[in-house]
This record gives sequence, structure tokens and C-alpha cells, in this order.
Amino acid sequence: MSQGDSSFNPPRGMRDFYPEDMAVRNAIFNAWTRAATRFGFQHYDSCVVESLELLKRKAGEEIVDQIYTFTDKSNRELALRAEMTPTLARMVAARQGSLSLPLKWFAIAQCFRYERMTKGRKREHYQWNLDIIGEPSVAAEAEVIATAICALGLLGLAKTDFRIHFNSRAILSLLLESIGIPAQHHQSTFLVLDKRGKISSEEMQTLMTSSGLDRQNIDKIFSLAEISTLDQVFEKTGDSPAACQQVLKFLELANVMGIKDSLVFDISVIRGLSYYTGIVFEGFDAGKSYRAIFGGGRYDNLMSDIGGSPMTGVGLGFGDVVVAEILAEAGKSCIGTQAETTAIGFMEDKQQITAVSIASALRRKGTNVDLATRNEKPKSFFSRTGKLGFKQAIYIGPDDIIASSVRIKDLATRNERIVPISEILA
Ligand code: HAM
Repeated sequence: MSQGDSSFNPPRGMRDFYPEDMAVRNAIFNAWTRAATRFGFQHYDSCVVESLELLKRKAGEEIVDQIYTFTDKSNRELALRAEMTPTLARMVAARQGSLSLPLKWFAIAQCFRYERMTKGRKREHYQWNLDIIGEPSVAAEAEVIATAICALGLLGLAKTDFRIHFNSRAILSLLLESIGIPAQHHQSTFLVLDKRGKISSEEMQTLMTSSGLDRQNIDKIFSLAEISTLDQVFEKTGDSPAACQQVLKFLELANVMGIKDSLVFDISVIRGLSYYTGIVFEGFDAGKSYRAIFGGGRYDNLMSDIGGSPMTGVGLGFGDVVVAEILAEAGKSCIGTQAETTAIGFMEDKQQITAVSIASALRRKGTNVDLATRNEKPKSFFSRTGKLGFKQAIYIGPDDIIASSVRIKDLATRNERIVPISEILA
């Protein structure tokens, strides 16, 4: 089979990570971990296999049809997790009573969804999850969004490169109430409204009719989608209801945190997962030419819905796929795979022992070293090490042995310094 033969490809939608891809992935994981740590989140993890029972829920959510399921040899119905949130809820419920709240946890979880393959969507992705459980105030929303913004900064994006669009399902409920839609229709209406732009208005109408809404109500719901500012919302609801006060408090905290300029009120942000109850949000590139970079919101009923004691939750999921596309377009993902490593090569077998001694001494002192396993012509050594993005190189020839010193070359600046071999071995 020849190179590039399709039989060597991973299954559709799954990815291999060659060293250069792994360098990008590591840079993203590092930014996520550094931001989460800077904001006081604790790391947790779980197995990628989950019981199907936990993931089963009401119809209407796209994710339900995307779950990879299988039966094990004892006929247990299992699934590959499609998201981390139900697992987090299960883990917290398993220790409810013994965890001190609010807890702030983060995970980097590989998730599987049988998705239609489009730009920014794979059938497997890594998702950074940041969640705060047990904090009813919007300080939690401000905190998780500020952490995500910190990660975007660590990845090299400027404030002007992205925007966080937010809305509130609690406010949407007030608006639906104000036009006479009873509460039992709200959740299904959110899920239909979330499909705006993805399916036609006629299809949306059919879905709303089948959930029991009449034509007049449907028209009124469509007119709500025309709202474009918070002031327009407050004209209809006043600003005294708790849901409105929460949004104002959220904006006040965001202002003090220096992230308010990145926030945009957007009535079309509803989110496709049914468990959200309050503020919902999605991060986008400034031109909105990619899918959401991250998305999340408040989910105050999920813990009790899965059978645990009631506990509030706020969190977000931030995938590796979209942000990698954005970084690549901005020319920011050319991270050298060996940026911290010194390459050592030698011209003839006679210099191999010296090369091995130098490499061993440097490694003992904590330097990362890539040591050549065979002799090499200087041209081939410098072309290979140049391509792999090493920090510096030591190439040993017969003259160096006679001089008892080596030249350490900085591969970025091309500057060389001569160092006695005895000094390195000391
Ligand atoms: P989600 O919006 O379904 O939310 O996914 C969050 C993020 O994961 C998306 O914005 C995107 O970056 C990434 N993502 C999702 N599906 C794919 C895919 N097929 N390919 C590539 N990237 C993808 C959730 O999953 C919620 N559980 C987030 C959350 C945590 N809410 C509260 N806590």
C-alpha cells in the first residue's frame, strides 16, 4: 500500500496526532491547564466509557442521536461520553454531603459524537470543561467566562479576536410568559429556537405545533427573536425580576474583571442542551466565521434530575478543534515540536563516545537532548534539526575533539558559543 492510501486513515471523524499535531494539542492543553490553575480550578477526570442510562434523556436534543453506544460481554448498555457534564453530575452526586461547596473543577475530556462532518466538527474531540457546583450567584458565570478568556489570551489571541455572546434562559422564560406561553412549553421552545438558522422557519413551526403551540403563539415567539438589546428586553419585562437583576450583576462583575467589553447580549444564543436554566453563552471568533469556540451556562436542576440532591451548577465546554483552526489561520500554531531541546550530532563513529558523554551529562543536568544514533554529514544534521525546530545544536567533528571544545549553536539566532568539553562533563 502506498503512502496516503485511504486504508491507513483513521475511522471517519477520528484523528491521529502526528508529532506536529501533538505539539499544537499540547499547547492548547497547556493553556487550558494554566488558565484553570490560575483561576483556582481543581483537576479531575473519569473514564471515557459511561453507562447509557446516565446519558439517556428526553428527545429534542441533537446530542441524544449522536451517542456512540455498545453492549459489553455482560450485556451492559454502555456509551462513549458525548460530553462531560452528566459524568460530572454523577461524580458529584456520588460524594454529595462530603464535598465542600462551591467546588471548582476542570477536566480535559475526550468526547465522541456521531456528528455530520462539517468545519469545526469531528466525531471525536477534546473538550476542556470548567464547572462550579454549588454557587447560586452569577459570580460563577463571571468566573468561568473569565477563565476561558484567560486561556484564549494564553493561546495568543487578542481581545479583539473574539466575543462572548450571552443570553439568559430565565429571561427568555419571562419573555415567553409575557406573551402568554405557559411554563411547560418553555424548555421545548428553547430547543426549537436553538435550531434557528440550522433548519427552516417552516420546520421550526412544525416542531412548535407538535409540542402543542398554536399559530398565534408561534408568531409571537418569532417576534421575540427580533430583540437585539437588553434595553429592549427590559422594556418588556422591567428590570426588577430576579433574572434581569442577575444579568445586571453578571455585567457588573464582568466589568470589574475587565472582560465586559468581550460580552455581547444575543437573544439567539439558547444552546442545544436542555439542562440549562439561566445565563447561557458561547464564545466566537470576532468575524463569526467559525463554529463556537466554547459554550456553556447555568444548569440548576441537573443534579436533582439525575437523582442527586439539588445543587446549582455553572460551566462550559471548550473544544480543541475550532480554536486550533482559528490559531492556524492566524498563523499562531507553528509551535516547534522540540523548542526546548538541544540536538547533538557527530561526523564520524570516532566522535560517538564524546557525543554520548556530552548528551548524558546535559540530560543529568536537566537539559532535553536529542542525541543522534548514527554519524551524519553536517548538511544532513543541520537540515534535520532545523526542520524539527530544536532550540540549539552541538555538532561534533574531529577538530572539536582535538580542540577539546564544542560549538553550541542557537538555531534561531545562528549565534555560536565555544564551550570546553570538560566544562560540560564536570
Ligand atoms: P457543547 O456546546 O455541546 O456543550 O460543546 C462545547 C464545545 O465543545 C463546543 O463549543 C465546541 O468547542 C466543542 N465541540 C462540541 N462538539 C464538537 C464536535 N463534534 N467536534 C469538535 N468540537 C466539538 C457541552 O458539551 C456542555 N456539556 C458544556 C458544559 C459544561 N456546560 C456546562 N458545563
